[in-house]
Amino acid sequence: MRSYAAKCAWHKGRRGLKGQFMGRLSELGGLLHEEHFRIVVWLGDLKNHPFVTPIPQGGGQSLQEERQGLRHLLEGLDAFSQHDAFEEETLFPLIAEQCLPRTVNYLHREHAKINTTVAKLRSLVVSRLQRRGDATVCAQIMQAANDFYRELFDHLAREEDLIIQRLRSLLDPETDSRLVCEHFARPLFALRAVG
Ligand SMILES: [Fe+2]
Ligand SMILES: [Fe+2]
Repeated sequence: MRSYAAKCAWHKGRRGLKGQFMGRLSELGGLLHEEHFRIVVWLGDLKNHPFVTPIPQGGGQSLQEERQGLRHLLEGLDAFSQHDAFEEETLFPLIAEQCLPRTVNYLHREHAKINTTVAKLRSLVVSRLQRRGDATVCAQIMQAANDFYRELFDHLAREEDLIIQRLRSLLDPETDSRLVCEHFARPLFALRAVG
């Protein structure tokens, strides 16, 4: 596991490379944009999870594969919650204070809805892992995972338009850079994926 300082230095060292592709984004915008991208990739995997899209008969999973898939899903939900918590606790209050209270309220309501779905999905998956579930639980996981996929996909697109792509004008460079370091204090979705 990389140290906090090493993570921060690693990200800052990539700025030159990022600049070629994401010139419009601030430093924090680039980091959150990349994290959104990795969440979208993860969502694509989730969409193909057998609990969400049942595989044809004869291609069923072993018990071990099923449990591994469910644990992976829980890890993804935990990582997503860290991303969400950073926006809610650190980024949104700063932006609302400065200029965008209505936008932040809107995104805050979306977060609340998504978090309700995440809590439901998490509880169903834990129940299934503890073997308390039956076919009904599997169907409920499928429904909750589909709701999560739809809600989050829409939310990420909106958040990119309303906040991430505009961060350069919403935060001064010092604050933007400080928030990059604060965000690295959390277990990032991006870093889980890139090692
Ligand atoms: Fe968000
Ligand atoms: Fe986000």
